Amino acid sequence: MTVLGPQTAASAAAQLPVALIVAATHTSLGIGRAGTLPWRLPTDMALFRLVTSSPAGGSSSQQQQQLQPPLLLQPAVVMGRKSWESIPKKFRPLKNRVNVVLSRTVTDFGPGTYTFSSLSQALSALSQTTSSSFSSIPPVSSIYIIGGAEIYAEALKHPAPSRVFLTTVYPDDEQALQCDTFLPDFRRTGEWHQKPTADLRRLLTEMQCHEAVALIPPDGEKVKENGFEYEFTLWEKR
Ligand SMILES: NC(=O)c1ccc[n+]([C@@H]2O[C@H](COP(=O)([O-])OP(=O)(O)OC[C@H]3O[C@@H](n4cnc5c(N)ncnc54)[C@H](OP(=O)(O)O)[C@@H]3O)[C@@H](O)[C@H]2O)c1
Repeated sequence: MTVLGPQTAASAAAQLPVALIVAATHTSLGIGRAGTLPWRLPTDMALFRLVTSSPAGGSSSQQQQQLQPPLLLQPAVVMGRKSWESIPKKFRPLKNRVNVVLSRTVTDFGPGTYTFSSLSQALSALSQTTSSSFSSIPPVSSIYIIGGAEIYAEALKHPAPSRVFLTTVYPDDEQALQCDTFLPDFRRTGEWHQKPTADLRRLLTEMQCHEAVALIPPDGEKVKENGFEYEFTLWEKR
């Protein structure tokens, strides 16, 4: 966990990094099938776990050096009700992260979760966790939007997210994968640009995600697993 002093808490809240993290097929940006993932990609899962539980959470090394006691910070993961339900019970809530579930129908998803009926409400409440002593949510260092399609679509329209960690999957036959859930094609809106892989490595290093850096293959190579080829990409808002 990151430790943050009261004098830097307010400034940290104002600068809380918000990112989407998602794996999608190259052409149609398919992300799901029948309420679950259309693939099993262990290295991608490992990168997801390392990035979303990194206490440094996308803040710069300079910001990290300013951190002092006594506030303990964790990243928050924000997900839709259906994605929450797709996580095996033994793995939820996702450990070392503040779990936020969005629903318009359910108000309580059990111990260790925080529920909101809109994305804006959730982002607003999370951004105040380090500056308000009245917050019922533990102080968070960063926010990751982790799906599914409904939540990604809304997040891409929201001004807060500044990064997308996109795992691009290249199936042999994308149609045969029969995805029924898709990410809106943010790549073609002109609002986002892809960063070089060296920048992704640099960011993960700043986030002290050294194990995650080691998972990224050399430039020009893809991860090959369970019949899929895929690569890790970083996109930033212009
Ligand atoms: N490839 C990836 O990286 C990735 C990541 C995550 C998920 N997925 C896949 O995506 C699929 C699930 O996506 P999905 O779009 O069907 O479901 P979802 O986004 O996970 O959840 C949808 C539910 O979230 C709630 N919700 C949606 N928008 C809301 C809002 N603005 N405010 C409050 N609540 C809101 C509603 O819950 P109520 O009905 O309770 O009101 C809605 O039914 C699965 O196949 C999953 O495996 C893929």
